[in-house]
Parts: sequence; C-alpha cells; structure tokens
Amino acid sequence: MTTVESLSDKLFKELDKASSLKQLEEMRVAALGKKGAITDLLKNMASLSLEEKKTYGQQVNALKENFATALEEKKKALEAKELEAKLQSERVDVSLPTVGKPEGKIHPVYQVLEEMLAIFNQMGFKLAEGPDIEDDFHCFEALNFPKNHPARQMQATFFMDGEEDLVLRTHTSPVQIRTMENIKPPIKIVAPGRTYRCDYDMTHSPMFHQIEGLIIDKTTNMGHLKGCLVEFAKAFFNVEDIPVRFRPSFFPFTEPSAEMDIGCSRENGEFKIEAGKGWMEVLGCGMVHPNVLKNCGLDPDEYQGFAFGCGIDRFAMLKYGIPDLRTFFEADVRWIQNYGFGALDVPNMIRGFAAGVQK
Ligand code: PHE
Repeated sequence: MTTVESLSDKLFKELDKASSLKQLEEMRVAALGKKGAITDLLKNMASLSLEEKKTYGQQVNALKENFATALEEKKKALEAKELEAKLQSERVDVSLPTVGKPEGKIHPVYQVLEEMLAIFNQMGFKLAEGPDIEDDFHCFEALNFPKNHPARQMQATFFMDGEEDLVLRTHTSPVQIRTMENIKPPIKIVAPGRTYRCDYDMTHSPMFHQIEGLIIDKTTNMGHLKGCLVEFAKAFFNVEDIPVRFRPSFFPFTEPSAEMDIGCSRENGEFKIEAGKGWMEVLGCGMVHPNVLKNCGLDPDEYQGFAFGCGIDRFAMLKYGIPDLRTFFEADVRWIQNYGFGALDVPNMIRGFAAGVQK
C-alpha cells in the first residue's frame, strides 16, 4: 500500500529531477489531478478508524498543499531559466558594423525639415499640425482675407471639385488659427507640412513644403522676429555672416509684414550662398494682425506676437546647391542617389549640420 510518506518521497524526488515546463505539467496532473496519486491516497481511508481518518486526512491535505507550492516554485525557476536562455540565444552585438550599404535615401526636403525642426526645437518652439485639405474659414477668412479680396488671387488656390468650402491649403498659416483656437497664450509653435498652389517653374512647384512659426504673448515684437529668423538662418546654413535682407511686404494676416531674402548666385549650374550677386526669397513674416487675434477670440490690446512661413524646398535648394525645384518631385532614382541622405544621417544640434554645407 502506498503511504503518504512514500508518495511524498517519490513526488519530491521526481520534482527535483524535472527539467522542463512540460514535465512539470505532466507531474501536476499525475499527482494533483482528479485521478492523481495524491487523490488516490484517500481511497485508503476506508479501513481506518474515525480518529485515524482525521490525522490521515490532514497528512494527505498537507502533502497536497506542499506539493502544489513546490510545483509553483519550480515552475517559476524554470521559466526564469528559459527566459535567460532565450535572451542569451538572441543576443545581438550592437557595436558590430552594419553589413553592406543601405540602398534607400532620405529626400533632401525631409532632411532639411528635420534640420529646421531641430533648430526651432532648440529655440523652444513646440510642434503643431493641421490638415492639407482646409476650409475657407481657416485658410482665408480667419486670416483676414475678406471674401473677394484681391489678396486671395495671389494665392493661386486649388479648389476641391464640387466642394465650395474646401481647398488644398495654399500655405501653412491656417495652423496659426487652429493653434490659437485650441491653446491659450503664451504660444510658441512651428508647423511643417505640404502646401499647394497652381504654379510651376524653376522655383515654384504645385506641391511644396512650408514651415509656419507663431509666437503669441504680451511682449514679443518685430525686433524679436528679426533676431529669431537671422539666428535661425545662421544656424541652418552654418554661416556666421550670412547675407540676409528684409523687404517690406504685404500679407492680410500680418501688420507690418516683411519678406526675408538670402543672398545667392546661380552660375554654371551651381547654386550657392553668396553676397552681392542676387537674392532668393525664402520666407514671409510679420506681426500677427489684430483682426486675426480677434478672429481667434484673443484681445489684441492684451496679446501680440509674430508669425513666419518658410519655404522648406527653397532652403533645401540653397543649402545643398540644387538649382531647379522641379527636379525634387520627378522621382528620378539617379537624382535621389546624388542628392539624398543616408538613413542614419539624422540631423541634430549636437552633431551639427556640417555635411555638404558651403562656408
Ligand atoms: N503664409 C504666407 C505665404 O505662404 C507666409 C507668411 C506666414 C507670411 C506667416 C507672414 C506670416 O506666403
């Protein structure tokens, strides 16, 4: 007859030897299952006296509990061991050099976008976004373009077929409105994205990229605007005495308004930053118009600030010497092999942006 002691001895010996989770599960069923060995012990009860039954029952129950606990502990230990073995077998030496040369390239527009964001981020600007398909209110009305105002014509808008109120955004300025509608000043954001205008030549493409900047608080003035953009240009081009000029301009949503140009030359198919040759317009800017603040529920007697909108593609042309904007979007593999960037060439302020920069 199997006694509690002999079964206990046998079970714990087996448990000691078990080396896999599968074995443990089989042992659990064989010992603790409905027809298991421990349950079986209770059959011996029939021949015992009442007093004996009591102690015997207690012994069987104690064995049941002890064995269940021991099983659980062994299970945990085996699981930890299996995980450790798995980690060891999947170990990767991250310090090894990569194999071969990655074939894909990052488009200069996206490289430049990352560079610009890194600089603005360093200056304390947060990221904001808005949709490519905009409504008339955000794209024009709230930005102080009254209906039928001639300023709307300058924007060469693509209208959505059959949707009177919807347009492909002609600039990223609608994100100014969306931001002021949603967050309270102080506001300090940049909003990059695609923009669309019916235009096509060496420096215009129907789809292009802009990055919008907006600061709203109680004290920011035109001096801050100029300082911010000149410092940005110096950091971006890595040229301390970069030729920059501001020209008075007009935008319905800023007053006063200006445009910033960068001195450059285009000779022998080469495009570079240079003083005294010519100028390329790279951004529009100005102090946010009181009507725009009002349209967003802000009191213009209390709040003020500046906004700017840069053409990302133009910055890319200037920095990397690419003479024709249209080539950006022709999807020519040879072009991207020449002007593209490696996937691991991630721009940041610490490493700097020296690659390919003209001094
Ligand atoms: N949205 C203007 C454009 O695309 C640029 C701009 C932005 C001007 C912000 C002033 C302030 O031409």
